[in-house]
Amino acid sequence: MDITEGEGALSTEIRNILMSGGVDDPVGESERILAESRDLELTDMREKAVSMARSRASGIPLGYVLGRQRFMGVEIEVNPGVLIPRSETELLGWEAVARLREARGGHGLGARVIDMCCGSGNLACGIAHAVPGAEVWASDLMEDCAVLAMRNAKRLGLGGRIHIASGDLFKPLAAMGASGCDVIVCNPPYISSHRLTRDRQDLLNHEPRQAFDGGPYGLSIYQRLVHDAASFLVTGGWLLLELGVGQASSLELLLQRSGYYDRIELVPDPQGEPRVAAARRGPAITGGH
Ligand SMILES: C[S@@+](CC[C@H](N)C(=O)[O-])C[C@H]1O[C@@H](n2cnc3c(N)ncnc32)[C@H](O)[C@@H]1O
Repeated sequence: MDITEGEGALSTEIRNILMSGGVDDPVGESERILAESRDLELTDMREKAVSMARSRASGIPLGYVLGRQRFMGVEIEVNPGVLIPRSETELLGWEAVARLREARGGHGLGARVIDMCCGSGNLACGIAHAVPGAEVWASDLMEDCAVLAMRNAKRLGLGGRIHIASGDLFKPLAAMGASGCDVIVCNPPYISSHRLTRDRQDLLNHEPRQAFDGGPYGLSIYQRLVHDAASFLVTGGWLLLELGVGQASSLELLLQRSGYYDRIELVPDPQGEPRVAAARRGPAITGGH
């Protein structure tokens, strides 16, 4: 059997394993699994690919099986301690890029950005990669996330422009001089604790609870963020938040009532569902509630 023939047979074997596990896209995923081991001899390639396919067929998400996920055009290392970046979160990342370019020009020279609740650092890295003049501060409650985010930043050659910390929301950033920002992005945990015990229990099968649990109504982190973010933005700077489906009006209300923002916009996804809220920091603190 020559190499091509051997690979063809292996490809069929991998697809069959994936199909037996009910994977939706066995053809596409078998390609990605095989691509991971193409530099190996056929026997080692088979061993590695079959083991990955079996993990995938047992329900482990593809990102964890491969150990990485593509996001905003860059390769992000992931592990079971962090949320696997979702393609829908790219809407938030590209919205940040557009507003930074608008404020600072195409290169974004001098732009200052915070990525709050950074997880693997996908937004920080995606934005810093797309806006070469930007400096980014990123933070996550979980130390493991901060360590991985730093590793991602360094591997992508962005370590000099991305500063990472761990701790509760903005607490660790104040000491790092992360103020006067043009944009703050945040994809917080926003699923209600109740739903995580009911119809969204599946989310906790493999990924960490702290990435999803947004408290009793899914709004706990937003309530704090809307207030705490204001003092880290320049006047005219933007707070950009990913929203859960159906959360737009609650978020609009929270942002309006805070008194910190003079313009609020909702950005829809391609299906027309608002998935990003953009709030512009107003010139004066009119006092929040
Ligand atoms: C939905 S995940 C988002 C991860 C990543 N930014 C992304 O877009 O894929 C939410 C992240 O918020 C972090 N987190 C939860 N509570 C936090 C808090 N109080 N302060 C900072 N980060 C927090 C979690 O550890 C998790 O990494």
